[in-house]
Amino acid sequence: MGMFILLSWRQLFWALNLPELPVEILVNILALLDIPDLVRAGSVCSSWNAAYTSLRSLGMYRRPQTPCLLYTSESYGDNVACLYSLAEKRVYKLTLPEPPIRSRHLIGSTNGWLVTADDRSELHMINPITGEQIALPSVITIEQVEPIFDEAGAIQRYEFSQYYGEEEFSIPSFHALHELRDYLYVKAFVFTDSTSGSYTVVLIHNPIGQLSFAKAGDRSWTWLPPGADYEDCIYMDGILYAVTNIGGIDVFDLNGPTVSRKVIIDRTKDYIYEHMYLVQAPSGDLLQVWREQDRKIVAAEEDEDAPERDHDPSEIFMETRKIMLYKVDMDAKELVEMSSLHDLVLFLGLSQSHCLSAGECPQLKANHVYLTDDGLGFALRKQDCRDIGVFNLDNNNTEEVVSPQLLCSWPAPIWITPSLSNVSSGWNNICARS
Ligand SMILES: *[C@@H]1O[C@H](CO)[C@@H](O)[C@H](O)[C@H]1NC(C)=O
Ligand SMILES: *[C@@H]1O[C@H](CO)[C@@H](O)[C@H](O)[C@H]1NC(C)=O
Repeated sequence: MGMFILLSWRQLFWALNLPELPVEILVNILALLDIPDLVRAGSVCSSWNAAYTSLRSLGMYRRPQTPCLLYTSESYGDNVACLYSLAEKRVYKLTLPEPPIRSRHLIGSTNGWLVTADDRSELHMINPITGEQIALPSVITIEQVEPIFDEAGAIQRYEFSQYYGEEEFSIPSFHALHELRDYLYVKAFVFTDSTSGSYTVVLIHNPIGQLSFAKAGDRSWTWLPPGADYEDCIYMDGILYAVTNIGGIDVFDLNGPTVSRKVIIDRTKDYIYEHMYLVQAPSGDLLQVWREQDRKIVAAEEDEDAPERDHDPSEIFMETRKIMLYKVDMDAKELVEMSSLHDLVLFLGLSQSHCLSAGECPQLKANHVYLTDDGLGFALRKQDCRDIGVFNLDNNNTEEVVSPQLLCSWPAPIWITPSLSNVSSGWNNICARS
């Protein structure tokens, strides 16, 4: 720890004024930095850049990363994302490639990759640290989406069918190109396969929370019927686990020749109320987390005696009231209630649900849950207030992370764990669309 404190950013600049350090020593120093600082250090001068490049190419950089809050701000350009580092308690500005980040929906974040939906409802995955961006298969290859063309042959709007594996429960709806994303997407994940170096993107999408996935190099999304009502996913040992709104857990082997669903746990409750998350603890245990939110109205100095009025959707927001923790006993197929996270810390929201040990990231608070909105709440709707904060499981109080005045409520802020990972060039070349 002493070494880390010595290496605050200010001291790095001070170190630069010392007689030039040998590259091997620089490499060892840089290996101790968190990624945002590492990238900055790499751009300071040529010898630091050489050290940064060799650190990456030698695969020596393995420092566990503390998640950051990624958000946008009206004070900066449309292409700038702000990264608030919980470890350093400071903000880094990142300029991202087109289309402007402020025009996109953020629908997921895993392993340093964001998944975004642009104003044609098309998806990209982007690593905001390296700036690498990959266009994902077109939205019109999602099972329930069909393009409607105008006379000139351009896509004019989308037809969105309302069926899942077992039934069609409503007539199709029609949406403008930028509007479909409001209805279609729930949450997205980028799962890496360390053995092949490849990637699989998994989507939870509507109607009623179904799954589709695309692997590196695929030109279209593959639908996974008949399951539905999914709220969260996790990838463990090459297997996809998905939790439903009643706590059921289904698994899929996405690497098999045909992908079939295996129901591991049918349900853990009889009602739909809390938002459900699936998290793997550092011990390997699988946790089910239930998050209860209250619907609130932005306080507009309303007269208590005034008659109830209809509220604009932007005035409504969600506030986390209760978080319940369970360990999943896979053999008994039941939940075991946990009264505390002890040394652990959770990250929940539109990002991949994540569990860390506070011992490894001393800036984080043990037995606390770091929250943002998710797609089941109002993250994908424009609203003025957000459910972002640090929930203390000892007293059920929520503390602020970043002052709400600093961050734009749209697109909804999201947790991201910075990563320097690059995807295979094959995926890039095959999938790139102009
Ligand atoms: C916090 O919420 C949990 C779950 O509802 C409850 O069991 C616990 O008593 C609450 N703690 C306090 C201090 O209110
Ligand atoms: C990562 O990919 C980018 C281009 O997409 C490339 O410029 C860069 O050199 C790559 N970095 C590594 C370490 O492979």
